[in-house]
Amino acid sequence: MRREAQVSGKDADLPAETARVTHAGSTQPVHTSRLTPHASPAFKALPPLSLYIHIPWCVKKCPYCDFNSHEVKGGSGAPFQEYVNALIADFEQTLPRVWGRRIGTVFIGGGTPSLLPGEAVDAILAGVRARLTLNPDAEITLEANPGTVDAARFREYRAAGVNRLSLGIQSFNPKHLKALGRIHDDTEARRAIGIAREYFDNFNLDVMYGLPEQTLDEALTDIETALSFKPPHLSAYHLTLEPNTYFYRYPPKLPDDDIAADMQARIETLLVAHGYDNYETSAFAQPGRRCRHNLNYWLFGDYIGIGAGAHGKISFPDRVAREARYRQPAQYREKALAGNAVQTLQEIGAADIGFEFMMNALRLTEGFELALFVERAGVPLTRVLRALDAAEQRGFITRDHQRVTPTLQGRRFLNDLLQLFLPADGSAGK
Ligand SMILES: C[S@@+](CC[C@H](N)C(=O)[O-])C[C@H]1O[C@@H](n2cnc3c(N)ncnc32)[C@H](O)[C@@H]1O
Ligand code: SF4
Repeated sequence: MRREAQVSGKDADLPAETARVTHAGSTQPVHTSRLTPHASPAFKALPPLSLYIHIPWCVKKCPYCDFNSHEVKGGSGAPFQEYVNALIADFEQTLPRVWGRRIGTVFIGGGTPSLLPGEAVDAILAGVRARLTLNPDAEITLEANPGTVDAARFREYRAAGVNRLSLGIQSFNPKHLKALGRIHDDTEARRAIGIAREYFDNFNLDVMYGLPEQTLDEALTDIETALSFKPPHLSAYHLTLEPNTYFYRYPPKLPDDDIAADMQARIETLLVAHGYDNYETSAFAQPGRRCRHNLNYWLFGDYIGIGAGAHGKISFPDRVAREARYRQPAQYREKALAGNAVQTLQEIGAADIGFEFMMNALRLTEGFELALFVERAGVPLTRVLRALDAAEQRGFITRDHQRVTPTLQGRRFLNDLLQLFLPADGSAGK
């Protein structure tokens, strides 16, 4: 599931795909683009590789959430063992596409991965290590919901190799936690942070703002409370009404756009004043604590995505492929165990890759080096020069001969900025 990048983005699901295709019911991966000579990117060196592992269950579906997550009553009734077997089978089937490469970061996301017993996380990570080299200093993150936190389990996750925890706090205000349909209250949120800190020196707190009937002061109080725990990393997301959610069908009363914009500006100022670096739209880090996994998405690195509905992007010397796994957990398990978890396979053509690169890299406050564009998109800079000129003229970016940096205007109107990079024939996204 993705978004830690659509053009909003949560701490670590997959970067937005511009071109989604689904082929329900197909049994083989479907190749959706036909290559014409010179229509593909080409690479001298392959980018760094990450691994995303999706766990598709939650105790209860939150009314605002469009992630691929399915309710499992009581949180313990899911077929964890079979799912772990499917994940390992899926990973093994991916190996021929990444032979000889090393994994730099792992993100176990969901859904609610903290529903997994410690031994399941251990089996997953051991299964990965036995099949492909995991860098000794790999960042390994696991997402946890404060309503499912247990000290013994956190100790087991740490022993299994997890070295970064991401907690979905959302708010410390009981009224808002209730409005968001969360399974935990503020006491449990605080307790979860206490336990997380005992076992993980590196952790992230997810907080959302622009909540139903939230005032500016309430939003700032949530951030101040989060700051009192000195989190190495904080993700502050503007609540969005996503299609196919309860909130989309029955919209709650949200703060108007001006108030939400004020919240964003004041939250940024507050966090920066406390020494946090706002390195991406919603991401704030203490020095040295940026999320390496998400940075790899934003810098257009490669990633394997295993698990129900997971997306991957894998570069080869002469092309870039996107793959998506079957979404329904039962169907995913069946397909993975039968030898092919990939439902759709699509190549990103040279016409679309500039847009895809920008959709990720322009989220970064510091922007990107021009050399990185050529290295990671695998096409010449001339492909995007006209769009860069237009973006500069409209005040969305600044640039010199080395680097492109989005301006505040560009960051606030990211969709308008990205439009400039859409292929002229409008083919991106088709
Ligand atoms: C997969 S969830 C995190 C782990 C766990 N499932 C939880 O909710 O505690 C990823 C994060 O995305 C953010 N998120 C989810 N839906 C959102 C939405 N509609 N708008 C903004 N942020 C959202 C939340 O902050 C959430 O913590
Ligand atoms: S717990 Fe997290 S993944 Fe699950 S439904 Fe709620 S927000 Fe979505």
